[in-house]
Order: sequence, then C-alpha cells, then structure tokens
Amino acid sequence: MSNLKNRVAIVTGAASGIGLACARRYAAEGAIVVGLDLNASEEWASVEAVSQQSRFHQLDVTDGAAQRAAVEETVRDFGRIDILLTAAGVGAGGPVGMLEEADWDRVIDINLKGTFLSVKAVLDTMSAQRSGSIITIASVEGLNGTEGGSAYNASKGGVVLLTKNVAMDYGRMGIRCNVICPGFIETPMLNDVMGQMPEFKADVIRETKVGRLGKPEEIAGAAYFLACDDASYVTGHTMVVDGGYTAGHSHGLVQLMGLV
Ligand SMILES: NC(=O)c1ccc[n+]([C@@H]2O[C@H](COP(=O)([O-])OP(=O)(O)OC[C@H]3O[C@@H](n4cnc5c(N)ncnc54)[C@H](O)[C@@H]3O)[C@@H](O)[C@H]2O)c1
Repeated sequence: MSNLKNRVAIVTGAASGIGLACARRYAAEGAIVVGLDLNASEEWASVEAVSQQSRFHQLDVTDGAAQRAAVEETVRDFGRIDILLTAAGVGAGGPVGMLEEADWDRVIDINLKGTFLSVKAVLDTMSAQRSGSIITIASVEGLNGTEGGSAYNASKGGVVLLTKNVAMDYGRMGIRCNVICPGFIETPMLNDVMGQMPEFKADVIRETKVGRLGKPEEIAGAAYFLACDDASYVTGHTMVVDGGYTAGHSHGLVQLMGLV
C-alpha cells in the first residue's frame, strides 16, 4: 500500500480516541498532521515525535471562522491539504420526550454542523489542487436506530448523507469523500457510557461477531486506506468497521450448534 509521505492531513477530534489514533497513523505513514480539538492533549506529543512539522490547534469545530483560520495557516505553511478526517464528536442523546432542546442543539451542532464546517473549510484548497481525500466519521448508529439514540443517531445519519453529497458534488474536481461507520470502539467516549451500564457492554459484545470491542487503531487502518492512493476509485462509500455488529442479529444458534 502506498504511504502518505509529505501529504498534509487535517484531523479534527485529534486529542483523543479515534481522531488521535488516525493522526498517529497518518504521521507514521509520513504525513504532516494538523490536529484540531476543543481540548489540549498530552498524547499529541506522540504525533509530533514521529512527524516534527505536525501541529495542534485548540478550537471548537462549531466555530467556522476558527476552522478557516487553521486551514489558512496550514496552506500558508505547507502549501496544500491532501486529507481531512473529521472525528470531533460527542455522544449524547436520550428518548425524544426526555431530551432537552439544548442537548439536541449541542449534539447536532458539534457532530453534524461541525463536520459541515470542517469540510467547507478545505474545499476551496482541494478544488484548486484538483485533489483531496475527505474522510468523515459517523457511526453504525447513523445507519440504524439505537434505543435512546435520537440526537446522536440523527447527527450521524446526517453525516452519512452529507458525505455522499460531497462525493457527488466534488468528484469531478478530484476530491473523494467517504464515511467510516465505526461499531463500538474502546475510547474515553465509549468507556464513559459503558462504565455506567455494564449490561449494555455485555450485550454489545454478544452482538459483535468477533466477540470484542474495537480498538481506535482498527478505525485508523480504514482511515489510512481511504486517505491513500490505493483508494483512488473509492468515493461516496460508507465503510462499516464494526466487528460484524451490523451483519445480523445473534440468537445463540452458533453456540447451540457447538461451533463456539
Ligand atoms: N467510540 C466509539 O465507539 C465510536 C463509535 C462510533 C462513532 N464514534 C465517533 O468517533 C468520533 C471520535 O469519538 P471517540 O470515541 O474517539 O471519542 P473521544 O471522546 O475519545 O474523542 C472525541 C474528541 O472530539 C473532541 N471534541 C468534542 N467536541 C468538540 C468540539 N466542539 N470541537 C472540537 N473538538 C471536539 C473531544 O475533545 C475529543 O478529543 C466521534 O465523532 C464519535 O461519535 C465513536
């Protein structure tokens, strides 16, 4: 597989979990990585240790002007943007009748509008270059409903369709746009939720056909493929990386038949 030597990548949500793992992978493959996140992160140093020109901006993805400024600085200093990966997000929701309007707005603003603003900020540069790979992070919860999912699932479903539309509108300008839908991945976000609900965790593992939660690095592997030239004919694609969670329902028959 080709590497990403001297490519310039912007990664949102780069301080933690999936975004951090993708930033590390891109750096390891030779890219200069510009990380964006609301929070600073001591772990970001591990990216700069591998790719010295990489840098970090502390900003809110709902702030379009701040994202544009980070993009302008990136283009001024490195001359181009080859990859955008949008991992900034929050996991919150609840049944509609119990969900406050302010919580709906916050989740939609960060997960969906934040993704829109990140994509919008790089399009002029990528269009002028006639090249670029945009990878958004949605969720298996953007493909199907989840009990109590409401705002989160709506935001991630929106990201899936936004991605397809960007692929349609900008393909002839050399820009590819794909979405990764992770299953349940061990990150601070998931550990927060599952720490409060151990029964939920056990049920998710039972429904995940490989029998375990995923690792952020397993999402970074898919994000690497979609970023690099080996994926040159892949666009508008929804890549599910979920250990088989959405392959079908488990009813215990495999165990009954003595397979496991
Ligand atoms: N962990 C999972 O199981 C899982 C599954 C499917 C999808 N996802 C998605 O993957 C993405 C990354 O999640 P994660 O699990 O790594 O969580 P995480 O909490 O470890 O990382 C999310 C990062 O986004 C940042 N962020 C939050 N709001 C922001 C804002 N307004 N502006 C800038 N940065 C902001 C946080 O500071 C954090 O560093 C999210 O979009 C999440 O919805 C996660």
